[in-house]
Order: sequence, then structure tokens, then C-alpha cells
Amino acid sequence: IWTIEGVSETGEIKDLQEAFVERNALQCGFCTPGMLLTLAEMMDRFPDASRDEIREYISGNYCRCTGYQAVVDAVEIAKEKSRAKGASA
Ligand code: FES
Repeated sequence: IWTIEGVSETGEIKDLQEAFVERNALQCGFCTPGMLLTLAEMMDRFPDASRDEIREYISGNYCRCTGYQAVVDAVEIAKEKSRAKGASA
């Protein structure tokens, strides 16, 4: 079982975490660990997910603060960073 602490320590979700901060995709932070773990899995399984597919994927995670728009924006930024790293590797 991977926890938010475990994947944070390995650095594997660093781009996603940075994008959350950049887009202000967390406010109180209550939903953030679940959002990050869900989205990390989605980015592994469906790296080309559309904005609608991202919304569908996180539909089981409730956020009282962000309205989800910033969360989807953050995923788009993390996907771009991931693609850029893949292109340069
Ligand atoms: Fe507060 Fe999502 S940031 S519930």
C-alpha cells in the first residue's frame, strides 16, 4: 500500500505536487492526499486523459474548496512536464 507520504518521499509525484501549488489546486488540503494519489494512478494508466476524463477519474474525491477547475488545470501542467521529460529522455 502506497501512502501520500511514501510517494512524496520517492519524488514520483513531484511534478503533480508542484502543479497543485502553481495552480492553487489546494486550499484547506483535506482532499489533497486522495486527489494526488488518484491522479498519479490516472497519469500512469491514462496519460492522455482529456479534461472531461480527468473530471470523471476524480469524481469519487470530494473537494469543498476548489471547484475542481484548478485541480484539472494542475493535471494539465503536470502532463505537459511529463511529456517534456519524455521528449528529452
Ligand atoms: Fe479543501 Fe479540497 S482543498 S476540500
